[in-house]
Amino acid sequence: MPQVKFFYGDSVPLEMHKVRVVQKLNLRTVEERLQAMSEAGSNTFLLKNKDVFLDMLTDSGVNAMSDKQVAAMMEADDSYAGSSTFTKLEEKVQELFGKKYYLPAHQGRACENIIARSFVSQGSIVPMNYHFTTTKSHIVLNGGSVVEVIPTEALEVNSENPFKGNLDLNQLEQLINEHGPEQIPFVRIEAGTNLIGGQPVSLANIKDTYKLCQKYGIMLVFDASLLADNLYFIKVREAEYKDADIRSITKEIADHTDIIYFSARKLGCARGGGICTNDVDAYNKMRELIPLFEGFLTYGGMSVREMEAMVVGLEETMDFNMVNQGPEFIAYMVGELQKRGVPVITPAGGLGCHLNAMEFVKHIPQEQYPAGALAAAIYIASGIRGMERGTLSEDRKSDGSEKLADMELVRLAMPRRVFTLSQVNYAIDRITWVYENRHLIEGLTFEDEPKILRFFLGKLKPVSDWQEQLTAKFKADFGDSL
Ligand code: F0G
Repeated sequence: MPQVKFFYGDSVPLEMHKVRVVQKLNLRTVEERLQAMSEAGSNTFLLKNKDVFLDMLTDSGVNAMSDKQVAAMMEADDSYAGSSTFTKLEEKVQELFGKKYYLPAHQGRACENIIARSFVSQGSIVPMNYHFTTTKSHIVLNGGSVVEVIPTEALEVNSENPFKGNLDLNQLEQLINEHGPEQIPFVRIEAGTNLIGGQPVSLANIKDTYKLCQKYGIMLVFDASLLADNLYFIKVREAEYKDADIRSITKEIADHTDIIYFSARKLGCARGGGICTNDVDAYNKMRELIPLFEGFLTYGGMSVREMEAMVVGLEETMDFNMVNQGPEFIAYMVGELQKRGVPVITPAGGLGCHLNAMEFVKHIPQEQYPAGALAAAIYIASGIRGMERGTLSEDRKSDGSEKLADMELVRLAMPRRVFTLSQVNYAIDRITWVYENRHLIEGLTFEDEPKILRFFLGKLKPVSDWQEQLTAKFKADFGDSL
């Protein structure tokens, strides 16, 4: 905690909010957890929340709202067209990002659909720091392909690089020269690069990328879904901005982009999204698709109540004491796991704590989804639901072979302001136990495999009775404890 020093011992993350509404949690017995995992086809997406103790699947749509957000939802202006709630939201986006035009969309991937349909065509190449699952799918669906222009360090599990999300500008310029700018509809930068462990991009890199894009007349599209964490990292890791406030950092980022889109399920702790720009031609092109896919231009598929919550949530994101909560809890969890020898992605990023399954269960071949198997094992041992981010999250190549992922991660997301430190300590304890017993974990194989985004709905089964063995070991070590 940079702002509060402790007198005795090491600092721990300190909540700058208090809890006033609570939700009861269930922690099932280990036998019940084994049963639930089996019914879910070893896929944590298919678990029922009533069987989950700590839901660390995602930070999407599950961040804690503030009292002011909930209060704002009560005064929403419910109308199909011309709602004053929409005007409030439009003005807040204009104020924070300095972009004149705002298009509402019901979530992040809906923005990606609109952007990809508007600008990507057969043969398009879209360079970016790293793809996100839905981003890539939309680009590919429209005939384009994604090229990641990142230094090799970005994919190194442990590194000292504070900005592993940075683009490699030499690679980017080479790519532009190779294909010509006309084949590149836009360059995309993802804040808080999700799939490589919530790793931030520096403001210096955003500015340099923008300059390069301008040189070649290519648009820069910025995915701000994970902006909150990235703002924190710019302030604490980028010397030039250590005294800058979050609002001015936000504005400076926005000034160096052509289009910004975001999932408000993450940014702004509500449920919704949107696209903003100062480019009138781009705006007109995208605008046509909003009524077709999202809804009328003054709600874009969102409920007015959520829009009110977004207005307040976006404003609250300008507070350092709000954006620091996620990253500081994550840094604590990563640090404690590291002390216990558990392989984690470093430096700690945003979004969640990322376990390195490639090392954690290195005896499991990638074709048997080590990260998926580890996520299943963690649920059985703890009732904690994490998410596989590895080969399972990739779709097969067109010839049917596996596209082995660069990284095999289990993400334990830290929804903002949701968990207490004792819950995080429980997670650390149980994950350490799983690590000590990792030799018991084996792989998974598909029983029912969807063609697109298979990780959402696919069902798998363990290659042996290892889940039963793990349960028996848990019983032996923990007795009657849940
Ligand atoms: N971009 C990034 C960087 C994301 O992390 C997500 C969603 C999206 C776009 C799509 O937004 O979910 O509102 O449609 N990430 C979620 C996650 C799903 O769990 O990481 P969405």
